[in-house]
Amino acid sequence: MSVVKINVLTVPADMREELERRFAKRAGMVESADGFEWFELLRPVEGTERYLVYTRWRSEEDFQKWQQSQAFQRGHAQAAAAAGQGHGHGQGPAATGSEVWTFEVAETAAPKE
Ligand code: HEM
Repeated sequence: MSVVKINVLTVPADMREELERRFAKRAGMVESADGFEWFELLRPVEGTERYLVYTRWRSEEDFQKWQQSQAFQRGHAQAAAAAGQGHGHGQGPAATGSEVWTFEVAETAAPKE
């Protein structure tokens, strides 16, 4: 059964563009991780101000392995570059907060051919 891991990012209004820019030039390494199934960056429109980084994995183990991998570190190089230096338009995390939500996929559907 697949597992969904969502990283929920709190992003100040003046940092949204920067966050999206970083994702636009993201490392693109997650695609090669074993057990990776899907990724989407979800931009808030209504009901919340938080961005969701949606990822889906074959199993919890696959997600854990990716999170401990070099690929994860490199995929977060920009965010990590100046961690601790506060947020700014240059380097440093664009998000001021994050939390991870975990779901099991209970049911799925796709359009009929
Ligand atoms: C401290 C918590 C985290 C923050 C602030 C954060 C923020 C970011 C940012 C800004 C990027 C764009 C690239 C960069 O700036 O380096 C990124 C990449 C990414 N993040 Fe996170 N992230 C965090 C943890 C996580 C977790 C736990 C997940 C999994 C649910 C995740 C999933 C991803 C994925 C899939 C990418 C794209 C990596 C690639 O292309 O290889 N992040 N993250």
